[in-house]
Amino acid sequence: MTPLLETRGLSKTFGGLKAVQKVDLCIGADRIVSVIGPNGAGKTTFFNCLSGIYRPDGGAILLEGRDITGRAPHQVCRLGVSRTFQNIRLFPEMTVLENVLVAQFQHRSISPLPLLLHSPHFRDEEKRSRDEALAFLDFVGLASHAEKISSSLAYGLQRRLEIARALATRPRLLLLDEPAAGMNPQEAVDMVRLISRIRERGLAILLIEHHMKVVMSISDDILVLDHGVPIAHGAPEKVRNDPQVIKAYLGEEVTP
Ligand SMILES: Nc1ncnc2c1ncn2[C@@H]1O[C@H](COP(=O)(O)OP(=O)(O)OP(=O)(O)O)[C@@H](O)[C@H]1O
Ligand SMILES: [Mg+2]
Repeated sequence: MTPLLETRGLSKTFGGLKAVQKVDLCIGADRIVSVIGPNGAGKTTFFNCLSGIYRPDGGAILLEGRDITGRAPHQVCRLGVSRTFQNIRLFPEMTVLENVLVAQFQHRSISPLPLLLHSPHFRDEEKRSRDEALAFLDFVGLASHAEKISSSLAYGLQRRLEIARALATRPRLLLLDEPAAGMNPQEAVDMVRLISRIRERGLAILLIEHHMKVVMSISDDILVLDHGVPIAHGAPEKVRNDPQVIKAYLGEEVTP
């Protein structure tokens, strides 16, 4: 069966630095695949290539067998790949609800004419968007915060809002860059639950995460990068006991 997303020999260099080197990866629909590795291993760069922020300088990205290498971020998003950022990127002065509405409008191609004319069609559309946005907020546990200014939310809640915004673009594949970063153990457990519920909606998830408990408990498959090079790939049990992985993580916790 054709995987939802596949990379073949994906590579990205910055000057002389080989940030991502020949990465092969397959993600099936409704799978959770994690990308782990020490700081600077190339994880975010890999995401930036997948989401169209960087143009890879080698290899290919296939979405359901179709080559999407080099597509711009908005095109990749329209094709069903959405992401969150390691450094949260919200509209800080907007409300929580407005942040989700903006994501929806960015995704849809809505003619401005009904909006300018304030036609009944526009009012229907506006109501539908609002209801949908509220449903996404409810899904991530933020319904009661809808009217708050997003920068006033606690950090962990802002991460949830980022996920609601990504979901509002109706992806088939969601890329999460360290969704549990800076969270306490209970918040990290809650994040695992949320990620599982997203998968239950039929989405595939590609996850970058340093919390090994999160990674080991939730992943179907794990890819390990070290200095841009894939050094291990497989089920959590296999990866956890891989001597090269243990070496790359020397001094860091690999086992939960
Ligand atoms: N735009 C850029 N220009 C030059 N070098 C870059 C750029 N982006 C990333 N790098 C370099 O590429 C390497 C990989 O960085 P990247 O951010 O992908 O690592 P990472 O695995 O996400 O690390 P972390 O766990 O700290 O988030 C690093 O050496 C980084 O300094
Ligand atoms: Mg990173």
